[in-house]
Amino acid sequence: MCGIVGYVGSQRAVPVLINGLLSLEYRGYDSAGLAVLNNKNIDVFKNQGRVKNLTDNFDLDSVASKVGIAHTRWATHGKPSDLNAHPHLDNSKTFAVVHNGIIENYDKVKKFLIANGYELYSQTDTEVIPNLVHYYYNKLTNDVEFRQAQMLTYSTRYSSVDDVLLALRCATGDLTGSYAIELLASFSPDQVYIAKKDSPMVVGSGEGENFIASDIPAILQHTKNFYFIEDGELGIVKPDGVTFFNGSLEKINKELKSIEWDAEASEKNGFDDYMLKEIFEQPRAIRETIGTSIVDNAIALPELDGVDFKKFNMIYIVACGTAMHAGLATKSIFENLAHIPTIVDMASEFRYRNPLIDDKTLCVFISQSGETADTIAALKLAKEQGATTISVVNVIGSSITRVSDYVLYTHAGPEIAVASTKAFTCQVTTLSILAMEIASKRIGSSIDSKIKELCKELSHIPDKVKEVLDNADEMKSLAKELYKSKDVYFTGRGFDAYVATEGALKLKEISYIHADSYPSGEFKHGPIALIEKDVPVIGIATNEDINAKTVSNLLELLTRGANVTLVTNQKIENPEIQHTVKIPECSPLFASILAIVPLQLLSYYVAKEKGLDVDKPRNLAKSVTVE
Ligand code: F6R
Repeated sequence: MCGIVGYVGSQRAVPVLINGLLSLEYRGYDSAGLAVLNNKNIDVFKNQGRVKNLTDNFDLDSVASKVGIAHTRWATHGKPSDLNAHPHLDNSKTFAVVHNGIIENYDKVKKFLIANGYELYSQTDTEVIPNLVHYYYNKLTNDVEFRQAQMLTYSTRYSSVDDVLLALRCATGDLTGSYAIELLASFSPDQVYIAKKDSPMVVGSGEGENFIASDIPAILQHTKNFYFIEDGELGIVKPDGVTFFNGSLEKINKELKSIEWDAEASEKNGFDDYMLKEIFEQPRAIRETIGTSIVDNAIALPELDGVDFKKFNMIYIVACGTAMHAGLATKSIFENLAHIPTIVDMASEFRYRNPLIDDKTLCVFISQSGETADTIAALKLAKEQGATTISVVNVIGSSITRVSDYVLYTHAGPEIAVASTKAFTCQVTTLSILAMEIASKRIGSSIDSKIKELCKELSHIPDKVKEVLDNADEMKSLAKELYKSKDVYFTGRGFDAYVATEGALKLKEISYIHADSYPSGEFKHGPIALIEKDVPVIGIATNEDINAKTVSNLLELLTRGANVTLVTNQKIENPEIQHTVKIPECSPLFASILAIVPLQLLSYYVAKEKGLDVDKPRNLAKSVTVE
C-alpha cells in the first residue's frame, strides 16, 4: 500500500506534492520521491525514509516546475532503498511513473522487456511500467501495421489519438494485478496521464489547476471537488481540464462530486477512527496478500525456493497476541493438510522453555510490526538451535525480516490502530497459503486437486469479507445492548475456538470489558459457574461436523441465563438463541477470516458506545519492543 499525488497548474508543483505526501504517509512511509517536468526533461528526487528526508536531502525550493507526480512507499516488491523508491524512469528517461498497487505478472513482463533489450535496475514490480510504455510508444511510432491494429482495437471513435495514452493503454493491457498509475512524458508539457485498476485514485478539480491522489486527504486543502476514478479508466490531466477514457479509449463523462470533509475525517478516509478504516480495508488487504502467491489456482511462493519441506518432522508457530491467534487459527490446516505435528507457542514462553528444536524443525514466526522483542528473541533462539525459520511479517525491512531465513510478507498496508484487525486476517491468509505449499511439497500430486479447490475458495474470501462488512450495522445494534456488560464470554470448537480467543482479546483491549474465551466443551469443566442471568456469550459455529455440539453447549449456557449471540455460516435456526449473525458459507479452513470480522466490529462499536479512544487504548503500544 503506497500513496500517490500529482499536480498540473499554475503554482509550483513541489509544495503541493510534498504536502500531499505528508498527509498520505499513513499509507506508507519507507521511502518517498517525486518527478517534475523541466523543459523536456524529467527531474527525479527520491530516497529511502520518510517524506521529510526528501526536503532535507534535496534543494526542492529551487524546483520551479508546475507539473509533477509523487509517491510515498510501503514496500511490497523490493526492500526500502533509494533505488527502489518511486518514481521510476524507463531506460531512455522519457517516461516517469509512480504506482500504487502490485503488478502480479511483473516477472513475466520483466523477462519480456529484457528480451527486447531493456535493463531493469530496481527490485520493484513498478519499474516494468515506464519501460513497457516506452516499448509500446516506440512500436506505435515506428511500426505502421502495429499502430493501425491498435487504432482499430482502441480508438475507432477517438480520432485524435494521443500516442502516450495509447501506449499506456497497451501497457496496462499486459499487466495483471492492481494499479493506480501516474505517468509523465518528457515531451508532453503540462499533462499527467493516469490509469487505475483495483487501487484507489481520485482527481481533484481546481481553477486552472488539477490534482491527483490516492486518497482525498492529500489534496483536500486545495479543492473539495473530486472525480472518483473507476477500475479500467484512464485520463489525461491538464491545467484547464481532465479528459477521461474507458478501457476502449472512448471519451467518457464523469460526474464531479463535492466532499464536505474536515481534514481529520479525511485522513481516515471518512471513517471516525483508524481501527474502523482498517476493518473496512480487509477485502483489499486480503486480496493483495493473496496477490501473486496463488496463480491459476496453484500456490506460487518463489520466496521459499530452496526449502526442503520433506525433511521436517514438526513445526513450531511462534508469535505474540493477535499474531499468535493467527497461528492458532491455522494450526489445524498445517496438521490436517500437510500432516505434520504443529505446536503454536507464545514467543515469551517459547524462548524460556528449552523447546525441542533441531535441524528437522521448521519454526514459523508471525509479526505485524516485525519488531516485537519476544518474537525476535524466539527467532534467534530457533536459528541458533539449527531450525529453518520462515517469518510472516507486514513491515518490509523490519528486524524479523532481516534475521529470518525466509520471509513471506502480508500486504495489509500500515496498521495504525493499536488493536490489530487487518493484519490478523492477512496473517491467517498467508499462513493458509504456506500450509498449502507445505502440503503440496510433502504429499505431492495426490493433493493437487484438493489444493486447487482450496485456492479457488481462498480467492473468493475478499468478496465474502465485503459481504460481512455490508452488515456492519447489525453489530452496531448488538453493541448498544452489550456495552454496559461487566463480562462477556466467547466460545467455539476447533477453528472457531481460536476466533473466540481473538474476539475476546479485541473486546477487552479496546472496551476494557472483562472478556474471556473457552472451547465450548470446556465450559462444563469450570467456567459455567460464571454464567448468570443476562451474561453475554458469543458463540461461533462454522464447521458443520461439530456445530451441533457447539449449539448444544450454547443452549446449556442459555438455560443458565446467558444472552447468546451465534455467529454462523450454517443453517442453524434455533428460536431460543437470542441473536444469530449470518456470515457467508466457506470451507471451515478459512472461516476464521470471515468469523472474526463481526467480532472486530462488535468490539469497535462497544468501545465507541463507551466513548473510548479506540485507536489508542490505555496502557498499550502498537509495537512491543521490550520483553
Ligand atoms: C492486539 C495486538 C497485539 C499484537 C502483538 C504482536 O490487537 O495487536 O496482541 O498482535 O503485540 O505484535 P506484532 O504482530 O507486531 O509482533
